[in-house]
Amino acid sequence: MDLRKIIRFQHESFIKFIYASVMVKENDVKAKLEDIAQFKYRHMLWTMQDAAAKKIKFDMDFNEEEILKLKLLKREEDLLQFLIDDLDNNIALYEGIDDPTINRLRSDDSYFIEELRELDVEGDITAFNEKRELPGVELDENSKSALVFFLMEEIFKEYELIIIYSYLKAHTDIAIANSAFMDLAYDSIYHLKRFAELAAKMGVLTLPKPIPKEKYENMGIVEFLKENIEEEMGAEKQCLILAEKIGNKKLSDFLLFISRQELYHAELLKRALNAIQKG
Ligand SMILES: [Fe+2]
Ligand SMILES: [Fe+2]
Repeated sequence: MDLRKIIRFQHESFIKFIYASVMVKENDVKAKLEDIAQFKYRHMLWTMQDAAAKKIKFDMDFNEEEILKLKLLKREEDLLQFLIDDLDNNIALYEGIDDPTINRLRSDDSYFIEELRELDVEGDITAFNEKRELPGVELDENSKSALVFFLMEEIFKEYELIIIYSYLKAHTDIAIANSAFMDLAYDSIYHLKRFAELAAKMGVLTLPKPIPKEKYENMGIVEFLKENIEEEMGAEKQCLILAEKIGNKKLSDFLLFISRQELYHAELLKRALNAIQKG
């Protein structure tokens, strides 16, 4: 079996489902797609861990053209079909493989297809229409620009962190560091989802780009951790600055909540760093 290709397919599915969950409007459909996105994330991680255990080298690239298709979909029913096709392609890739992880993936994906077929969606996709309006929230031009800029930057960064933390987790057997990377990846998935949700509501959703390999391969882990402690503190500050500027209580509270999570990320990284330095 070609684990590298299987990892890439799980990765692409994860991106498609998490984006799809913010592109649809019905809450029950959103919840279902979020669930599947979580599983596709775990599928990606499990296959990465299997590859690492077998000393198979892999990268975290994805087919950009495939992901860009999300932006071309006009109707929710097209999006749903796109997701079903994606899982169908996954299943085709597992063909003839008998392996505990792949058997699990095959079983999950087959069931998800059944669940997707039962969903009833209709409506236009507005996540990319560049309207720059947040329904029910009045924002002045300055706040709006600051928010849009922040969302675009953060969506990109959170995606990058999910990938890097997952890669580090798959290659780390020091328990404290491994668990810190898992927590960081899950928090980053949550942040990505919340930021993407806001961006989609405003019609300014942006798609991720593949991460340059230098950012995770052969990386000095101690140096990376030190740098990222700074980055997490930087993220905390960005949230605080915007929270003050935004002039809307609800959004400001949300940003303060995120900023305190960022502060804890720095703490988790410090713990990972300590554990690794002790070896
Ligand atoms: Fe974050
Ligand atoms: Fe963070």
